[in-house]
Amino acid sequence: MRISILGGTGPEGRGLAVRLAMAGNAVCLGSRDESRAIDVAIDLSSSVGIHVIGLDNASAAKDGDVIFVTVPYQAQSDLLSSIKDDLEGKIIVNVIAPMEFVKGVGARALDVKAGSAAEECREIACNSKIVSAFQNVSAEDLENPDLVLDEDVIICSDDSDAKKIVMELVESIDNLRPVDGGALSNSKYVEQITPLLVNINRIYKIHAGIKIVGI
Ligand SMILES: NC(=O)c1ccc[n+]([C@@H]2O[C@H](COP(=O)([O-])OP(=O)(O)OC[C@H]3O[C@@H](n4cnc5c(N)ncnc54)[C@H](OP(=O)(O)O)[C@@H]3O)[C@@H](O)[C@H]2O)c1
Repeated sequence: MRISILGGTGPEGRGLAVRLAMAGNAVCLGSRDESRAIDVAIDLSSSVGIHVIGLDNASAAKDGDVIFVTVPYQAQSDLLSSIKDDLEGKIIVNVIAPMEFVKGVGARALDVKAGSAAEECREIACNSKIVSAFQNVSAEDLENPDLVLDEDVIICSDDSDAKKIVMELVESIDNLRPVDGGALSNSKYVEQITPLLVNINRIYKIHAGIKIVGI
């Protein structure tokens, strides 16, 4: 599988690159600045012992079969609108958890007019297959190749074939379990768990994840 990660130079993109490359996929990091993507790809490849390449976001979108989006929520609309044609027909995995930090309160979910970041992604990239996943998995844990993961990844989509492919990708990563989260409209509940986890992380000084019991 050829995987591209838009905004792949940030912590979450780098972490996903590590785990997806370790699982045997060809991974490309995208950036607004191709040279930054190349530098981060070289650093990651040498420190972890994987092979990852770097390109600008548009070229990365052209290159991949499955395109992960790991930019801040505020950047999603402009980025996807600018490369919409390169994303046509492809699977987009939206990892965005829209949130803000409020003094004295901590992390708080942002209201999204479309319902969720993933549904907003579908409004923009309307000819792509949108899947929502990985919002609750810590970047730090993903990026540490020696850390044994032990958590669930909830996957929401209205495209059953695309959902199946992303569930298989999750399954290919050691000790991550894919959980079918139903329709894309359920993504808002998954996205809103992330600010709760961020607040729990601060209290317990951990990188919290989630596990569904009873399956
Ligand atoms: N961090 C976590 O633990 C975590 C966990 C779960 C989900 N997430 C979600 O994953 C996404 C990425 O998180 P992150 O912590 O990696 O974020 P980040 O470091 O703030 O941003 C990731 C990358 O996005 C690009 N970017 C930043 N501003 C941009 C803009 N205005 N337009 C286009 N690209 C821009 C940057 O890449 P270039 O400068 O190279 O273009 C940056 O390296 C977020 O939506 C977050 O909600 C994060």
